[in-house]
Amino acid sequence: MGVIPAARLPSRPVREFLLDLDERDGRRAGLERALRAAIRDGQLPADTLLPSTRTIAADYSMARATVVAAYEQLVIEGYLIAEQGVGTRVANVQPSKPVSPDKGNPWHFNPTADFRPGEPDGGQFPRSAWSNAVRRVLSDTNDGGFGYADPRGLAPLRSTLAEYLGRSRAVVASAESVSVFGGANSAFGFLAQTFHKAGITHIAVEDPSLFFLRDVFTLYDLTLVPVPVDDEGISVDYLDSLDVGAALVTPAHQFPLGVTMSAERRSALLTWARANKAWIIEDDYDGEFRYDRRPIGSLQGLDPERVIYAGTASKMLSPALRLSWLVVPEELAGPLAQVKQLRGGVSTIEQLALADFIDRGDLDRHLRSSRSIYQQRRERLSATLTEVAPWLHVSPAHAGLHLAAVIAGPQNEADVISAATAADVGLVGFGPMWLGSPTSEGLIIGYSRPAEHQFASALDRLTDVLQSLA
Ligand SMILES: Cc1ncc(COP(=O)(O)O)c(C=O)c1O
Repeated sequence: MGVIPAARLPSRPVREFLLDLDERDGRRAGLERALRAAIRDGQLPADTLLPSTRTIAADYSMARATVVAAYEQLVIEGYLIAEQGVGTRVANVQPSKPVSPDKGNPWHFNPTADFRPGEPDGGQFPRSAWSNAVRRVLSDTNDGGFGYADPRGLAPLRSTLAEYLGRSRAVVASAESVSVFGGANSAFGFLAQTFHKAGITHIAVEDPSLFFLRDVFTLYDLTLVPVPVDDEGISVDYLDSLDVGAALVTPAHQFPLGVTMSAERRSALLTWARANKAWIIEDDYDGEFRYDRRPIGSLQGLDPERVIYAGTASKMLSPALRLSWLVVPEELAGPLAQVKQLRGGVSTIEQLALADFIDRGDLDRHLRSSRSIYQQRRERLSATLTEVAPWLHVSPAHAGLHLAAVIAGPQNEADVISAATAADVGLVGFGPMWLGSPTSEGLIIGYSRPAEHQFASALDRLTDVLQSLA
């Protein structure tokens, strides 16, 4: 037996921690919880000698067996050490640090008028159609369906998605080429790992672009190379001068600038990819939302062997579902599946619910109604900006769930954002989206987050902020 350290007396009497025992699930569980919490947050430091079980039992009118059982449980878990002839003392547990609220982060506050991009109006979520889909899945799935499933995604969803993407986004897909993930960020993590294993070290990204999505590639040591974007999309001339194995683009609605990639640029980009045997990742995050014409078909449809198509349920339904998909070229399907095999898939129930939801036409119905709501919001927002902030130049594409407004006056982006924050208006600027040197200042104004009945008052609040800066 080793040397027993001199046990300390509790810094605060143990009885203080036991005053308000939470006995919801019994005295023993409450006692264990109180002692665990006091040890974790450092109030009972290592080597503190605890009162005997007899003392605690007498002081708190507990059965001694209850206290003994609680002490024994905490000994097994490693919080306490029982030593014969000495008593029970606190083990050396790393105290947990309190998490400090992330106040300065524009994504972590809950403004009264929320014009940040990135989320659809939660009030539009088709709750009853979705819960009917989940109910059908739960009653129709046999017991075997509750086991582990194909990590690439369930066959019914993969074939439903192949059909849906074919008709709605002109994607060339079969069930075999579709893989299901827990969000685009998760899908990009799998892709990054697959690229890394294949020896790809550099990836071109549009500049500006969504920083936290592109950063996923750096987790697997890929270097991001910024490429400028003009009013036709990513600069292929610039891309030509680089040595990269892949390029990440948003052709339907560039994030954040809102440009739709022109037909010439699409063709030049594909020529570049073929000549360099490079992969193109088409991030089609909000391609279903086009208001002035039918949605423009995917880039992937023009070359399914070089383009990896990435779609998500986050904009068209809700980011809470954490469902997204990739359609991958044949050459990549095997290597990606190997990575997926090891790192697992997503909830079977949610996958089957999405398949059911699409098969019954609920997604088409939902998109028809939300498209018309967002189109009206976009028009109102756009008209308001033209009237009250002529110093903002709004992107022309009638698409997506945000509009990009370049600051063309003496106002400066940081001042606009802080005036908005002070007025409890959520707004995001181009700033964090630049990877290289910024070439413009501007605002990414999302119009999908406010509840429908609050949109008018939210717009009034935004108007006040912009007018105060005129
Ligand atoms: C440019 C872009 N791509 C993809 C996504 C979707 O991400 P996820 O599927 O992880 O929610 C978003 C969401 O904000 C986005 O803005």
